[in-house]
Amino acid sequence: MKVLFIGDIVGQPGRRAVKELLPKLRQQHRLNLVVANGENSAGGSGITPKTAEEIFSSGVDILTSGDHLWDQKEVMELFERERRFVRPLNYPPGTPGQGSIVFQADGLPPVAIINLQGRTFMPPLDNPFHCALAEVERLRRTTSLILIDFHAEATSEKVALARLLDGRVSALIGTHTHVQTADEQIFPGGTAFLCDAGFTGPHESVIGREIEPVIKRFMTSMPQKFEVAKGRILLQGAVLEIDDTNGLAIRIERVSEPLPKVC
Ligand SMILES: [Fe+2]
Ligand SMILES: [Fe+2]
Repeated sequence: MKVLFIGDIVGQPGRRAVKELLPKLRQQHRLNLVVANGENSAGGSGITPKTAEEIFSSGVDILTSGDHLWDQKEVMELFERERRFVRPLNYPPGTPGQGSIVFQADGLPPVAIINLQGRTFMPPLDNPFHCALAEVERLRRTTSLILIDFHAEATSEKVALARLLDGRVSALIGTHTHVQTADEQIFPGGTAFLCDAGFTGPHESVIGREIEPVIKRFMTSMPQKFEVAKGRILLQGAVLEIDDTNGLAIRIERVSEPLPKVC
């Protein structure tokens, strides 16, 4: 089983990168499943049915999210009718939407995708460690192929959760910081790990936004409008190879694919 995980898709440039680069990546890596974090897909903040549909029609199978989940009110429509959309599992009971999904495609074993959100330097939610353990145990009755998008700020929190789940999930990939880390590895139990997948969008920026307003905000503490930047668009994430028979990772490779410039 070959899977591409795509880091946070930021705004129109991010959606364009997916549309233009994914067909080639699908072919090149003979991908069976593509999972992407879409929390910044609508103008850099949140997700709407329209941006989700655009990403699905570009070849993404499952969309995950994170702390920017609520930025666009239209997200409520996605909760109601989009089975391919997952939000962090550890929101309180009664929150609309689903925290995990089992992806089933013709000729392939079922694959579970879980979305979780960290608590270090982030809004308080239920404990992701306890939520993850219970959900992994539940899902393993259906499949041993389990992928986790852990949307979290602190590297320690991401490494710790992956170590806890080593051997019980196929891969844990971090999202949220928008900075791709270089620590891709397979832990001794067989779980693939990458602390952060990076982001898909304009990298001539401060994590996807125009540079000057962000600097001004840090220098003056005054609110600024953060427009999505434009230049040097990359699709970032990781390609995973998973053993269908036991759900353990065989290979993880980082992806940072530039969108060719149009003159
Ligand atoms: Fe993000
Ligand atoms: Fe985030």
